[in-house]
Amino acid sequence: MDREKVIEIDDRLQHIAFIMDGNGRWANRRGMPRELGHKKGVEVFTDITEYCHKIGIKYITVYAFSTENWKRPQKEVESIMKLLDEYLDKSASEDACVRFIGDSSRLDPALAEKIRLMEEKTRNGTRVLNVALNYGSRAEIVNAFNKLAAAGKREITEQDICSALYTCGCPDPDLIVRTGGDLRISNFLLWQAAYSELYFTDTLWPDMTSKDVDLAIEDFYSRKRRFGGLDKK
Ligand code: IPE
Ligand code: IPE
Ligand code: MG
Repeated sequence: MDREKVIEIDDRLQHIAFIMDGNGRWANRRGMPRELGHKKGVEVFTDITEYCHKIGIKYITVYAFSTENWKRPQKEVESIMKLLDEYLDKSASEDACVRFIGDSSRLDPALAEKIRLMEEKTRNGTRVLNVALNYGSRAEIVNAFNKLAAAGKREITEQDICSALYTCGCPDPDLIVRTGGDLRISNFLLWQAAYSELYFTDTLWPDMTSKDVDLAIEDFYSRKRRFGGLDKK
């Protein structure tokens, strides 16, 4: 059945964020090195983000590498950075405006420059793809406060903080999907997730398909979002 006939995406679901977890386990189960799980993970990332855009999701955020992922063996970190570098060499999907969120100061300068060029090249895209790279939500919030302090702000409002986050201008995620079976947020969008619907699946990221996205979306539309109020009569 054609997916678009199942559920019409409307303004209730503008932004989906994915915690793309499970690449290492996917590879281990096949007796392959973790790096091959990341390679498959990038292919799936391209498919899933294109699918989400195609069905009408305006904003997608993906968690690609956390501020804590540097703790991994150097070989694994290098392979992830190399995959990112290769991703940046490919042309981005036609209508996606790609934005990298995170601290780019720790990245290899050549990679940081490619990121800048990709952002520049895609800036007129009609849909947004945020790639969280060397991203940590606590670091993002600290960075926001430091920006506000440097600007001489004394009475800080919620709006000031939103404007100083990497996600400035992007609505909060309506739905956060985590693959890989763990039931946690792992320092992702802590501020922005205040009223996000959370969806966890045991599916490992490299096994994620458009059908799994549909299931998450169906689940989202079955929920009642109250934002602290009462159900609408
Ligand atoms: C997610 O998959 C990708 C990154 C964190 C970079 P993992 O590499 O965490 O895979 P698992 O959780 O070990 O299976
Ligand atoms: C979260 O996955 C980060 C990304 C998906 C990039 P992790 O595998 O790093 O999370 P933990 O360590 O299991 O919480
Ligand atoms: Mg993991």
